[in-house]
Amino acid sequence: MPGSRPPALPAYFDFLIAAYRSGHAGRHVHLGYWDDPPPLSAPVRPGEFEAAQSRLTERMVAFAEKRSGQIVLDVGCGLGGTLSALNEAHTDTSLVGLNIDRRQLDICRSIVPRAGNRLSLVEADACSLPFDFGVFDVVFAVEAMFHFPARRRFLAEAARVLRRGGVLLVTDILVRCPTGPTPWPVEAMQAVIRRDYGPWPDLFVAGADLVSMAQESGLEATIDEDWSQATLPTYRVVSPDPLPERQERPDAGAVFRWLHTHGFLTYRMLGFLSGG
Ligand SMILES: C[S@@+](CC[C@H](N)C(=O)[O-])C[C@H]1O[C@@H](n2cnc3c(N)ncnc32)[C@H](O)[C@@H]1O
Repeated sequence: MPGSRPPALPAYFDFLIAAYRSGHAGRHVHLGYWDDPPPLSAPVRPGEFEAAQSRLTERMVAFAEKRSGQIVLDVGCGLGGTLSALNEAHTDTSLVGLNIDRRQLDICRSIVPRAGNRLSLVEADACSLPFDFGVFDVVFAVEAMFHFPARRRFLAEAARVLRRGGVLLVTDILVRCPTGPTPWPVEAMQAVIRRDYGPWPDLFVAGADLVSMAQESGLEATIDEDWSQATLPTYRVVSPDPLPERQERPDAGAVFRWLHTHGFLTYRMLGFLSGG
């Protein structure tokens, strides 16, 4: 729309990009996945978090069929963790990474396509995908949808660019408005999440809402897994205070730790089949 502002970039990426460039962070920008989740009180072993992040990516990539000649899109591709894993697992595949942040795409450029793969990187908004109808076999959005201007618009766009029988694979963080006593006012929690982890336009969304929004666009939910317990040990690294509720001025990590441990935050993995 003429005059409308481009979507905001997540501010926390300034830090992550610097950490990646100085060799202090890898390509994955998402929670870890533990097959056998340790308690939150367990000490973190060196390399454990990075291995758990790779495991989450590996689990996502495993949902995509390995057929040569496929065209795969990763929306909100971050620093290229999923693209890199797809490049290792697939052959003769066209990989397309999309992001609104050119700096992240520049980091993805160092991925060297192997075994007949091709890689292209596109700067665009997830809610306005610059592709024709029915181009892709698989579309990924790993831990990114909550940032997009509207999940509903992204789901409609993903449905439009997928071929009939194509697959959309996503993970999403779903927050439920807390009920009962909370350590901080709900409005303050929302403000802190938006300040530290924003943009996050629609904060309170249920899994059922996602499924019905996708259905409206002709996407049928075929995979629906709750990864909340498997991802919970992440807070041992990103928000290690065992009693975040003691903090008078929490950051979003502390708020998330409290919401996740109290069942108000779920980490959901969903797969959809395109009937369009
Ligand atoms: C939490 S990171 C996840 C990155 C990556 N998928 C991963 O798992 O490592 C969210 C990503 O979504 C991207 N993003 C945010 N808003 C976007 C938008 N409107 N369109 C496209 N990408 C967007 C961010 O720049 C960032 O790369």
